[in-house]
Amino acid sequence: MENNKLSDDTINKLFSSARAARSNAYAPYSRFGVGCALLAESGKIYTGCNIENSSYPVGICAERTALAKAVSEGEKDFLAMAILGSNDGESCLPCGMCRQFISELCSPHFKIFTENNGKTEMHSLNSLFPKPFLL
Ligand code: THU
Repeated sequence: MENNKLSDDTINKLFSSARAARSNAYAPYSRFGVGCALLAESGKIYTGCNIENSSYPVGICAERTALAKAVSEGEKDFLAMAILGSNDGESCLPCGMCRQFISELCSPHFKIFTENNGKTEMHSLNSLFPKPFLL
């Protein structure tokens, strides 16, 4: 399936799943909950939230939670993800560590949807992270 052929219905489903996942965020330190919904080529959606820790660097972002869930369930091919942070007035883009993590598992054409004041924005992984570290 081509990434650019995702229907509005699918994109809306990704955002509603990300919103539901955000409500499970464990973010007592930053108070910034994040939800992510990841669409696998199989058609299944995997969600993730951020999970913080009193030892701050131990916490995990929503995007890596979702990808870890999907990969550990046997998924190998991914089409897109939607990310929603706590601030509805600003797109929540993946952090640098997540961009590297995503780039290991997803193609440069992988799509990342965010929302800015109710307006959907679409980014390709390639545009956000054009030169990943590779071994
Ligand atoms: N966070 C995410 O889960 N995803 C992002 O894309 C950006 C940041 C989390 C990490 C931390 O729990 C909180 O948001 C504030 O940085």
